Amino acid sequence: MKKLYVIAASLMVLPAISAFAANPNPAFKQRHQNFEAMGKAMKGIFDEFKKPSANLATIKANSAVLAQSAKKVGGHFPKGTGPGAGVKTEALPAIWEKPVEFKAATDRLVTATAGLQAAAATGDIVKIKAAAGTVGGSCKGCHDNFRKPKD
Ligand code: HEC
Repeated sequence: MKKLYVIAASLMVLPAISAFAANPNPAFKQRHQNFEAMGKAMKGIFDEFKKPSANLATIKANSAVLAQSAKKVGGHFPKGTGPGAGVKTEALPAIWEKPVEFKAATDRLVTATAGLQAAAATGDIVKIKAAAGTVGGSCKGCHDNFRKPKD
């Protein structure tokens, strides 16, 4: 009987815990997916640069993904989704403490990715490489200030 009671008790506790873990603020999932998509798109572009003849269609498609994803970043950090929200995150408190600087960093990304998309449309690989470098700089600029450094 005692064993049964323990099982019953753990059955009552478990759903509560997993409901919490499975249902944090959807903002976390959306922003992770968006950043992952941006990481993949950047890799897709830089992989083309390594080839003797870069595939322009691949670069254009990835530039479009970046430009779209960039516009979403600003909306992915609502209050309460920083460290301490009970979810693993690399977002630093500075995001909410310095909203003006953070907005500037997101704007820089939006401008840079739009620039890359425009460069991709010209088909000029020299321009594309320069624009991709600017995008990379905007990623790094924000990560340096607003993302927890890797240990
Ligand atoms: C305005 C700030 C900002 C810009 C610009 C930015 N990031 Fe991030 N990035 C973050 C923050 C903050 C995190 C940590 C998010 C978290 O852990 O909740 C992050 C995390 C990531 C991650 C890890 C996945 C994740 O969600 O933890 C990848 C990959 C990533 N960024 C790629 C990029 C790429 C590629 C660019 C440029 C094309 C970029 N980021 C531009 C702020 C930014």
